[in-house]
Amino acid sequence: KENTFVFHNGVEIPNIGFGTWQIPNEEAYDAVTMALKNGYTHIDTALAYRNEENVGKAIKDFDIAREKVFITSKLPAQIKGYQETLEAFNETITNLGVDYLDLYLIHAPWPWDEKGKDCTEENIQTWKAMEKLYNDGKIRAIGVSNFSKSDIQAIIDACEIVPMVNQIPFYIGHDQKSLLAYCKEHDIVVEAYSPLATGQILNSPEIKEMSEKYGVTPAQLCIRYCLEHETLPLPKSTHEERIIENSKLDFKITPEDVKKLDAIEDVRAK
Ligand code: A2P
Repeated sequence: KENTFVFHNGVEIPNIGFGTWQIPNEEAYDAVTMALKNGYTHIDTALAYRNEENVGKAIKDFDIAREKVFITSKLPAQIKGYQETLEAFNETITNLGVDYLDLYLIHAPWPWDEKGKDCTEENIQTWKAMEKLYNDGKIRAIGVSNFSKSDIQAIIDACEIVPMVNQIPFYIGHDQKSLLAYCKEHDIVVEAYSPLATGQILNSPEIKEMSEKYGVTPAQLCIRYCLEHETLPLPKSTHEERIIENSKLDFKITPEDVKKLDAIEDVRAK
């Protein structure tokens, strides 16, 4: 189907989502309302963003049925373990005021302040709780975020359900080639967070020049680039004109131009 990706369990997800990382709770109500008003039907949040309450309120107050909105949230990176996961999930659905989630992700393989730590065993216990929530019908799909190939492989080897999603940073200059190939091989949908490199690539002369060629804005080129690589972009903005702009992606980048963009150096790599 057009405008959706399909997980390996058959669940469909709108192919662009509204990212809410770095939107404070006070601003989240208006931002999410603007997104819904302008046609977004997929909202991405996390317990760690501390905005679930107003994200949920905005969805509830908007004139749209629950099942018409795809809601993703995430288990905080520092929370690992079976029981801990079930409890954090309950906190999230209470914050959001919903009785099920469309997608729930392990936010990272390790706590943010212990980046790179081997948490394989903890992640396996955590994943078993995710599977339980999934099997109980409380989540329509389960996945991971910031996971490497070996992090994912450990789950696949020890558990029943292959993650439906890996949400990773993905933007022009950071094309994650081998991880993407691995995910594709296992039918894992890759979601692209920071598709604008948190705004840092929008002044790139090469990106500007190419966006002019297509008659679009640099942001639109960056977001379309994700779709050309079959990743699902999650752009964030708190400005309505940008929220609108970021969802108008009705053009295609030629394969030659995608290659040129692939060759751009990562602005965030030192
Ligand atoms: P703001 O929220 O003030 O509009 P990413 O999605 O990669 O995390 O990037 C988000 C950053 O890019 C935010 O600082 C956001 O600012 C900015 N941004 C989002 N959309 C656009 C746009 N269409 N044009 C310019 N800047 C944008």
